[in-house]
Amino acid sequence: MALIALLPGDGIGPEVVEQAVRVLAAAGAEGLAYEEALVGGAAYKAEGHPLPEKTLDVARRADAILFGAVGDPDCDALERHLRPEQAILGLRRALGLFANLRPAKLFPELADASALRPEVATAIDLVIVRELTGDVYFGQPRGLRKTEAGLREGFDTMRYDEAEIARIARVGFETARARRGKLCSVDKANVLETSQLWRDVVIEVSADYPDVALSHMYVDNAAMQLVRNPGQFDVVVTGNLFGDILSDQASMCAGSIGMLPSASLDSGKKGLYEPIHGSAPDIAGEGKANPLATILSAAMMLRYSLDQAAVADRIEAAVARALANGARSPDLGGGMTTAAMGDAVIAAL
Ligand code: IPM
Ligand code: MG
Repeated sequence: MALIALLPGDGIGPEVVEQAVRVLAAAGAEGLAYEEALVGGAAYKAEGHPLPEKTLDVARRADAILFGAVGDPDCDALERHLRPEQAILGLRRALGLFANLRPAKLFPELADASALRPEVATAIDLVIVRELTGDVYFGQPRGLRKTEAGLREGFDTMRYDEAEIARIARVGFETARARRGKLCSVDKANVLETSQLWRDVVIEVSADYPDVALSHMYVDNAAMQLVRNPGQFDVVVTGNLFGDILSDQASMCAGSIGMLPSASLDSGKKGLYEPIHGSAPDIAGEGKANPLATILSAAMMLRYSLDQAAVADRIEAAVARALANGARSPDLGGGMTTAAMGDAVIAAL
């Protein structure tokens, strides 16, 4: 039996996770036991903390975590450590989930939904490998203070040590090796010291991967190239902040942010699987959310944490078939409800 921690979270999280669990059952995923726990704003409201000890405990015991989304406008005025977003950051950190894989591929049926011209968009088939437990997200010191002149000042620390860079670089090289053999490391080495070290270490690690073609790109250029010619990328490896931004951008190129799954892996087989979209409070509870990113995240979970690659393939093929059959939620220009999208995938299985 594999234990899956189900953490639906806030907003549309519960709706999309529900559909993913239905699809897992219908696809014949074997030996899964679920334990559900509160996380994010939902946990704060019920228990006074976005990542209660109980939830962290389930996540620690689990073989894999299926996560919905966190974020709740009611909680925006809380002190930072109580805000819903701290739950996902805390989980990544506590469980050492340093390697975030965000594949972006355009299903041909969605070429018209992409923000790019169809002939540009159809070329997208890339994976962003984002470092997830370091960088300016976690660097110390950080805070708010007063300058000598009495002005309010905010500050954060961007930092990486060489071990953190080397281990994510290895994930990048391994991922590229299993695909088309091209790795593009994205940094801002023309300005930032952190990025200079990043580039140096990536080059050092590349000695172990002579079969992978390594290139480097500044993040501003990468943002531009991603919309100009996304087909040039195979695997992109980058730090936490740049990866956050570039992966949202890649999602619109691939049709909709409602389509992109992700895996956040530790150094073993454990992972947290979540759609890259947020909690979308504006449409929560209305059945308008696209569950496909979460369904595809569940497929990644089967592949990376549960050794059920054949079932994962089946789910991914069923999503493609459902789209080919015309399944469209509002973000894809259609009118189908969240549950109807789940039904469409199950029918296609
Ligand atoms: C993501 C999200 C998170 C991040 C937020 C919710 C903290 O945007 O997973 O990309 O910035 O990492
Ligand atoms: Mg993000």
